[in-house]
Amino acid sequence: MAQTYKRTLVTSALPYANGPVHIGHLAGCYLPSDIFVRYKRSKGEDVLFICGSDEHGVPITIKAKKEGITPQDVVDKYHKMMGDSFKEFGISFDVYSRTSSKIHHQTASDFFTVLYDKGVFTEQVTEQYYDDEAKQFLADRYIVGTCPKCTNPNAYGDQCEKCGSTLNPTDLIDPKSTLSGSKPILKETKNWFLPLDKLQPKIQAYLDQHTDWKNNVYGQCKSWLDSGDGLQPRSMTRDLDWGVPVPVKGAEGKVLYVWFDAPIGYISATKELRPNDWELYWKDKDTRLIHFIGKDNIVFHCIIFQSMLMEHGDFILADNVPANEFLNLEGDKISTSRNWAVWLHEYLLEFKDKQDVLRYTLCANAPENKDNDFTWKDFQAKNNNELVAILGNFVNRTLVLTHKFYNGQVPASERYTKEDLIVLEELAAFPDKIAASIEQFRFREALSEMMNLARLGNKYLAETEPWKLIKTDEERVKTVMNIALQITCNLAIVCEPFIPFTSSKLFALLNMPTLKWHAAKQTSNMAAGHQINKDELLFAKIEDAEIEAQVKKLEDSKAANVQTVIAPSKPETSFDDFNKMDIRTGTILEAERVPKTDKLLKLKIDTGIDQRTVVSGIAEYYKPEDIIGQQVSILVNLASRKIKGIESQGMILMAANSKGELSFIVPTKSDFNNGSEIK
Ligand code: MF3
Ligand code: ZN
Repeated sequence: MAQTYKRTLVTSALPYANGPVHIGHLAGCYLPSDIFVRYKRSKGEDVLFICGSDEHGVPITIKAKKEGITPQDVVDKYHKMMGDSFKEFGISFDVYSRTSSKIHHQTASDFFTVLYDKGVFTEQVTEQYYDDEAKQFLADRYIVGTCPKCTNPNAYGDQCEKCGSTLNPTDLIDPKSTLSGSKPILKETKNWFLPLDKLQPKIQAYLDQHTDWKNNVYGQCKSWLDSGDGLQPRSMTRDLDWGVPVPVKGAEGKVLYVWFDAPIGYISATKELRPNDWELYWKDKDTRLIHFIGKDNIVFHCIIFQSMLMEHGDFILADNVPANEFLNLEGDKISTSRNWAVWLHEYLLEFKDKQDVLRYTLCANAPENKDNDFTWKDFQAKNNNELVAILGNFVNRTLVLTHKFYNGQVPASERYTKEDLIVLEELAAFPDKIAASIEQFRFREALSEMMNLARLGNKYLAETEPWKLIKTDEERVKTVMNIALQITCNLAIVCEPFIPFTSSKLFALLNMPTLKWHAAKQTSNMAAGHQINKDELLFAKIEDAEIEAQVKKLEDSKAANVQTVIAPSKPETSFDDFNKMDIRTGTILEAERVPKTDKLLKLKIDTGIDQRTVVSGIAEYYKPEDIIGQQVSILVNLASRKIKGIESQGMILMAANSKGELSFIVPTKSDFNNGSEIK
């Protein structure tokens, strides 16, 4: 930031109102933006924090169709749910608006009209995919196919979520309608395109001024501009019936592309919040505009939305777009449809008053520069080993000793030793260190600096040992405890952006008003004689059972989601070929594991004809001791072969289900002798 600004406008991506909020959303943009804004507010800067629900687009209409309700019902339900859970989690938006509102429809419509009147769009009749069964054009997520860039077979018509490419439906290989599953036909329709190809030089110039952006963001933009054919025109209208109507004659039955109207939602939400001076935040060169987003939104914000703003002409452009990468869950991509997620509203119910534990864990593991993984074990460890053992422990010892020695009154510091002076100097340096990291969008680093302040406190107590010293040098202990209390108070200030609930609890325990950032550069916020409140634990240990319950919940959703996949049938075979196989019933006489393998058992089988050894890959499903005496079907005339050095003479036939589990195939009547033929 070379320039100095008078105010900051922070936007956080408008989430689609088609499902609840999960930890991937939080880690992607809501938590980092909230930390940033809380810090700015604490510094006394003029900052607005804008968000709302993205209520248009195919994700909404698909959800409505699935649930048999109207799109309006869908967005009403999830707008409320998301707004409530953000609030309870302490995401401190100044406004949480929505794009189905009147003010937004008007703002988006006007924005389009300005570009239209300026002749920015190119009007084009093109062939678009159409579902002849559903009688509908197939925009965006109504169509899937193979991504031409990365061969992901489930790329959407507008975007491949695997490689992040923006696509047009006609780019897809083997397209299929998600409405009927049928192969779409091509049909002519008129749309209005943003000529990104022509705008490329302007966008290039804009990006060249922002080489300071995070590598993952700048890199993705650059690769778009540098890719083979460069930027391509992109239609800003759609043949759909849910959205902002296209305000042009001859465009009846068409709506604005959701990625055209949604980012304008930032403007409408600002208008809603500040009807009288919203323009200051969008048009004044002294305003710094920052978009917090997840990585799948980079192209839309950095290239498409900025082009729209440029072409409109009245607005400032983004100064930074600090996008995060993706957060995975227990090693797997978070997926709404597979219910592989930690849902915020459920977390808030199950971990009452533990917002800060999740905030802390998500910030400590934020996917800032690369994808990262959330695990429940790590969540527990972050709580027990860091929040409880470092921060909670320091604060608790300080408060308890203050009550024990001084009835809860802050003692006056007497004479500082050299060690005290070093600690006080370090203490005063923390706010600037933390601030520098936050200003660079390095929230993990900032958080760990914050914890270093608690570590400093613990180290100070461990070295001075006031609990022992009190017996020999009461005067000295006053100074020590005074310093410990100053550290505690400054912790309450600098932890606020990250763990605001803990911060207010701390101020309450200290019986102090909420202090702002600059106060943390002082080392005398707690005046001698000030009475603090009764001590209380800041954090509680999280037990194994709570974590196991969460892991089990995830495992259950995994099990519920294993789809039954029926293997396709094999090519025809002849009766003669089948008849060449000699399959008999037999009985297992002996069974043991084949050493150094996970899957193999060595079996001795009575085939009725003889007794023979067979090596079989069933060890994951059957224990040796459980299958002695088990009847089986065995192919007895299979050429013998060596497996792990054992001569295997035949093959046990097994049924395999779609989970890959195996089961013996046996006669259902009990009196079938070994050697019975299977034919
Ligand atoms: N709804 C989009 C998503 O969840 C994000 C829209 S951000 C906005 O991916 F700027 F367009 F609003
Ligand atoms: Zn792809």
